[in-house]
Amino acid sequence: MITPDPAGLHIPVLLHEVLEHLRPVPGARFLDLTLGMGGHSAAFLAAGATVTGVDRDPAARALAATRLAAYADRVSIISGTFADAAEEFVRTGTRFDGVLADIGVSSLQLDDEGRGFSLRSESSADMRMGDGCPESALDLIDRLDAEELADVLYQLGEERLSRRIARFIKQARAEGRLTSGVELAAAVRRAVPGHQQRHPAMRTFQALRIAVNDELGQLDRLLAALPALCAPGGRAAIISFQSLEDRRVKESFRDGRKAGTWADAARHVVVASEAEQAANPRSAPAKLRWALAP
Ligand SMILES: C[S@@+](CC[C@H](N)C(=O)[O-])C[C@H]1O[C@@H](n2cnc3c(N)ncnc32)[C@H](O)[C@@H]1O
Repeated sequence: MITPDPAGLHIPVLLHEVLEHLRPVPGARFLDLTLGMGGHSAAFLAAGATVTGVDRDPAARALAATRLAAYADRVSIISGTFADAAEEFVRTGTRFDGVLADIGVSSLQLDDEGRGFSLRSESSADMRMGDGCPESALDLIDRLDAEELADVLYQLGEERLSRRIARFIKQARAEGRLTSGVELAAAVRRAVPGHQQRHPAMRTFQALRIAVNDELGQLDRLLAALPALCAPGGRAAIISFQSLEDRRVKESFRDGRKAGTWADAARHVVVASEAEQAANPRSAPAKLRWALAP
């Protein structure tokens, strides 16, 4: 049985698919690199596995510790980034039968007004997930000139109007009109008038969040370490939420399969069923890819 989420806030995405591909069994050693609120880990533990959980967010670690308290003898929680943790495990020769990374921002972080991840946040546009993030989104906006900021929006948000948006953001900041998430969203809205289906600031928020948390750098380091983290016959799964990340996972797993680093790897992406998407709309963009160690 899966331990319910005490706060009722979080539904783990693609849970059935993760269990199908990672196959936790009693005694198996599992590494959950993005513990979050412990939803996936609760299922690994319920299946009898031991779990090492990593999260850079102290709030997530505290909630997961509470949620997983019933399994305290089989779970250990470590702080810091998953890239640092993965490299440290490789250095010490620690290997796992199952490794999961469910990367990106959690509902806990998105819904917490005070952290500035959301377009509706009245708090400072901070966007740091936790450990290993030296700069907030506002620090980044202030440090970069308009052209450098535009490059970030273009490369990490795939924002076609990056130059114009970057100019409006810098101007609003210079005029003292931009501190909160709401004000950041309003600056982008001024740069992109007219009706759009999605709020025009979504891509800007995505780009800033990825940059602040060095999300692509973290993923690249994880992908490089991943084969050595898996015990013989071990399984890895990565869930990502946007195309820049999924492309990296897809190429890394495909190249690893061809080179024999992986015995097998997903040929097709796994996405949430219609039923899951209806029950949890945040699962819609989730993309899971798996790999099997030789
Ligand atoms: C989508 S949530 C994971 C949810 C989790 N699978 C569950 O079932 O509750 C992503 C979590 O990963 C953490 N995270 C994201 N990038 C990280 C990184 N580079 N290092 C460590 N933790 C990270 C976030 O702080 C967040 O808590």
